[in-house]
Amino acid sequence: MNSSILRGARPYSLKNTGPAGRSGPVEVLRMACCTGYCAAEVQFNHKMAERDLRRYRRRGADATTRLMLAELRRWPLEGRRLLDVGGGIGVISKELASTGVASTTIVEASPAYLEVARREAGSQYGSRPTQFILGDFAVIADTLPDADVVTLDRVVCCYPDAETLLREAAARARQLLAFTYPRDRWYVRIVFALQNFWLRLTGKSFRTFIHPSERMGAVLEAAGLVRCARRETLVWILDLYCRGHAV
Ligand SMILES: C[S@@+](CC[C@H](N)C(=O)[O-])C[C@H]1O[C@@H](n2cnc3c(N)ncnc32)[C@H](O)[C@@H]1O
Repeated sequence: MNSSILRGARPYSLKNTGPAGRSGPVEVLRMACCTGYCAAEVQFNHKMAERDLRRYRRRGADATTRLMLAELRRWPLEGRRLLDVGGGIGVISKELASTGVASTTIVEASPAYLEVARREAGSQYGSRPTQFILGDFAVIADTLPDADVVTLDRVVCCYPDAETLLREAAARARQLLAFTYPRDRWYVRIVFALQNFWLRLTGKSFRTFIHPSERMGAVLEAAGLVRCARRETLVWILDLYCRGHAV
């Protein structure tokens, strides 16, 4: 791993005891504060992480996440390495653990979310390698190993430079890249504008973004990926990109 990027990182191992009593190494890499994406660190705080966890336990995965999971489960995932960018509380990794995924890496800008992800998803992987990496993926991506499957569920809408994020994600994706993002529709724009107005009013630096789907697609295609599935809801789009013959 490129030590210049992870300078200040404190790798440490935590005992990972799963529900079935399995245990294995869970690696967490911490970076010095604000070498990451600070607006997200502040926005996705401990209170929100615990709220999201309660909601997940009550209702299961959110609708966009379910779309992504359903599409990914159509592919043979056994033995594949998963990289979940902006993994939040770890729902994708947790839900895909039973498919036989060989390893999982979650990269998260928020320490609070990453900690919940470690608790929730880490225990599902037993002795399979699990990594939880704190930082801005767009900055640290080239320090990470490739993965067969890369996911970004509702992440590009939290980041100003979606093109860099996707370019870096595509560079790591050997087979599949799935991402969800808001549709560019007038009613979605109104909701996002109101959200951003509220964030500004409350003095937060975090903002949400609706990035043009064509530009994001062009970045992925330039990286050699081909769109192999699209699913839509009223508000969200899931795009699945494959590399060549994929899995
Ligand atoms: C709306 S949440 C979605 C979380 C999860 N993927 C889900 O769908 O439940 C967006 C997450 O992406 C993370 N994030 C945004 N930009 C990021 C970046 N550049 N690098 C790493 N994580 C990022 C945020 O910290 C936040 O946890």
